[in-house]
Formats: sequence, C-alpha cells, structure tokens
Amino acid sequence: MLMELHSTLNSILETDGDVVVAPCFEREGGEQPALARAVDDVTSGWLTELYGSGEFSGKPNEMALLYRPGIRARRLAVLGAGKEPKFTPQEMRRLAGVAIRDLRGRKLRKIALALDEKFATPAYAQAAVEGALIGDYEPDQLKTDPKKGECRIESFTLIAPRDLGPAVARARVIGESQNFARDLVNLPANRLTPSALADAARAMAGETGLACEVLDRDRLRQLGMGALLGVAQGSDEPPVVIVLRYTPESETAGDHLGLIGKAVTFDTGGVSIKPAEGMEKMKYDMAGGGAVLGAMRAIAKLKPPLRISAVVPSVENMLSGRAQRPGDIVTSLNGKTVEVLNTDAEGRLILIDAITYALRLGCTHLVDAATLTGAIVVALGHVHIGAFTNDEDLLSKVMRASISAGERMWHMPLDEEYKDYLKSAFADLPNIGGRWGGAITAAKFLEEFTEGKPWVHLDIAGTAWMDDPKPFIAKGPTGVAMRTFVSLATEWAG
Ligand code: BES
Ligand code: MN
Ligand code: ZN
Repeated sequence: MLMELHSTLNSILETDGDVVVAPCFEREGGEQPALARAVDDVTSGWLTELYGSGEFSGKPNEMALLYRPGIRARRLAVLGAGKEPKFTPQEMRRLAGVAIRDLRGRKLRKIALALDEKFATPAYAQAAVEGALIGDYEPDQLKTDPKKGECRIESFTLIAPRDLGPAVARARVIGESQNFARDLVNLPANRLTPSALADAARAMAGETGLACEVLDRDRLRQLGMGALLGVAQGSDEPPVVIVLRYTPESETAGDHLGLIGKAVTFDTGGVSIKPAEGMEKMKYDMAGGGAVLGAMRAIAKLKPPLRISAVVPSVENMLSGRAQRPGDIVTSLNGKTVEVLNTDAEGRLILIDAITYALRLGCTHLVDAATLTGAIVVALGHVHIGAFTNDEDLLSKVMRASISAGERMWHMPLDEEYKDYLKSAFADLPNIGGRWGGAITAAKFLEEFTEGKPWVHLDIAGTAWMDDPKPFIAKGPTGVAMRTFVSLATEWAG
C-alpha cells in the first residue's frame, strides 16, 4: 500500500491523525521558535517542563510523547532536531526518517510533522517527505510473513503555514523512485538476472513514457562490445545493455547528459574468485545501474528540460568452463585492447563499452555510478561517495547537485601520474593497476575511454549498502546516487 502524503495549512491544534510530531531544537537561550511556543501553548508548558527536567534536550533522535494532548490528534510528540543553525534539509530528511521509524514501531500509522515557520520552505518540505518515504522502506519484499507491511505508515502530513503541495509531489516521485532502486538492489541474483533487470526497466519505461531499448547478446557481438562480453561469457545468464532515452518537450541547452550504471547482478570475481565470506553481498554490485534506473523513473515524471540517456550494462560475473581467464586480451567497443589481469576487476570492463556506446548516442556529458572498488571503501568508509573527473566544471555541477540531494561525495584525485600504474606488456591497457590507489587506477582506466568528453565517475561501493540499520534508514540497499542524478538533471540549466 502506498503512503498517503498531504500538506495542510491547519495548525497543530486542528490536524487529525495518530500523532503530531514537532521537531524541537537544543535550547541555547534566546527566544524559542514559534513551533516550540505553540507546543507549550496547547500543552500548558509541557515542553518547557521537559527541557527543565533534562528528560529531553533537543539532541537528534530524542523523543517524548504526550497522550491526550488536547489537540485533535491523539498524541503529540517532540523530536530532537539538534542545533538550530545546523539544521539543513539533510537534517530534516533524517529527522523525518527517525520519526517514521520510531512511531511506526509503536503502531502509529497516521503521522503529521509540523514545520516551524522558518523551515516551511519547498527544500525542507521535500526533504521531509523524502525522509519519510525512505525511512518507511524495508528490504523485506521476499518475506512471506503476513505481518509484513502491517506497521507501515498509512499517511504522512506536513503541517505548514504555506502551500507546499508542489514540493510534496516532487518528493513523492523522488522517494518512491529511490525505493524502486532499492528494491532492485535488494533482489538476489537468482531473481534479478540481467534479463530480469531488463524486464524491470522495460516495464518502468512503459509506465513512465521513456523510450527503452535492450541490446541482447547477438547485438552486443555485432557492435563489438568485447570487454563486456568477456565478463559475461562465464555465465549461463545472457548479458544485456539497457538503453533508456528521455527527450524533453523543450530543451534549454544543446547538452545531452549520459547516465551510466554498473549492473553486475552477481560478482563472484570469476576465475580470480572472491573469498566465500561476505560473497552473498555481491548481489548489490548492480547498485549503480539501480540508481540510474531509479533516476530515470523520477526524471520521466519530473520532466526537466534536458536530453538524457541512460546506458546500463548488465552481466553476471561467474566462473565456468567458458569463463574468461587471467591473461585473456579483449577488444573493447572503441577498439582498444585490454589485458584482463584480474577477472574480478569486471566492472570497469563493462563500463568502458557502455561509455563508448553513450558517446556514440551523442552524449555530451557523462556521469557514471558504480560499486567499482573495495579500495574506495578503504579510503572513504561508508560515508562519502568517491567522485572522480576529467572536468572540474561538470564535477562542480555534480557536487552542487549532491548537496541539494543530501548525498555526500568527496573529490578524489586523477592526476596524470596515475596513468603510469596502468601498463600492459601485451595489450593497450591492463584492467588493474598495482597495489596502491586502487579506486583511482580504476577511475583512470575508465577515463581512457571518455574521448575527452566531460565525465564524472562516482564510486559507490562504500555507500550503496548499509550493513547496520540507522535510526532513519533500514539496513541494506540505500539507493545512493539516485537523488544526485535527479538534482543534476533538474538543476542543469539553472
Ligand atoms: N564489485 C567489486 C567492488 C566492491 C567491493 C563492491 C566491495 C562493493 C564492496 C569489484 O568488481 C571488485 O571486485 N573490485 C576489485 C578490484 C581489484 C581486483 C583490482 C576490488 O576492489 O577488490
Ligand atoms: Mn569484481
Ligand atoms: Zn564488481
């Protein structure tokens, strides 16, 4: 069942539901925000007493519930919002997630969130609704437990002194598209094969009006995507390249954005096999492709004035009597030969053929997302996406988009010297560098195929999957990079 989303001009007194949530900041003296005063007004000073007793200080994630608060809703909750000057839309997104996850655990299903006058803006409203949708998601689509979904939120209402309807509508598209991506990422490899991913993309394109083309193995052979086909040959599952095209009704610039997403539905490593421990997680090696498909779903509904194409190469990296071997030399779509020194460095092999294909479609700017390296997890942990580029202008656009989307990235280097780490005695390039700087040499390898076009590479290996739940989000697939793609597309011209 879909969550109902509303915004209302009613006050906290008049709004119906199981609970009205009022975010409250840490007190630093001075005048209290209007919302805190309103809470005190309707409760004859409950909030001030709470602060005074030390039971509630306004720190993030703290909550206190009042029953029969004398408002129309059955309960009133105050939720810590941290320090007011630090309260960005990203904080609002998290706060809404915390509210949803805490309150649904108490079986409350109709939740209203009050926005302080100062934060009743489209950016905060959008963040709040996105946070609610993201927070309500559980990676349980394959559980048969009849209780599944029972505690999910029925309705989420923003209480604000101004009409925030358009922001709520935008947030619904983005939050639901992010959860669409998360469902794909969460599906295990026996259920989400490359063909199944293509079916999902086709169905989504049909619903949203995107043009969709799926290149099958014969077509990939005809084209000459030797690098991708080499990875795919060890699997009984045939590879695909999914191509989605969004054409705006009117264009503001002649730019053509290409979004590329790595979609390895399972990465065993191939003959250079991975250790058994933790290998089950390699179902999320298609998270870049999932983020791109989620973004295209949102883009099709939000209709920005920019031409956008998506290219999602999808394979299963397996071992078998047909699998590619270390030392094999493949010829990529753009003609360069690559010596496959490690079959586990497969993401870059499928991405280079996708990059060349996107350039042939006429893309003027490229952004890819890929769970590309363990090395980026070593470098940045599970906090920041690693961002690499050959074009500072495009990177600043992507960085700005990531800030408004509330996704964190860190600019990683890509200096010429790193090119020296990629030397093959027998082919134009090897598919791995040496021991050091693994995330950078992977990016450097991709750069060799960008033909000098502006390109940004996002390594999401550390951020696409969370091993532990957080108060605002479930464990598992995050759908990361999807919101940055959407912001990039919608903010491109402005
Ligand atoms: N899919 C992995 C990268 C990865 C690692 C994603 C951990 C998520 C979590 C990628 O295909 C891979 O295996 N990369 C190798 C490259 C190495 C062989 C040069 C790696 O990072 O170990
Ligand atoms: Mn691999
Ligand atoms: Zn991989």
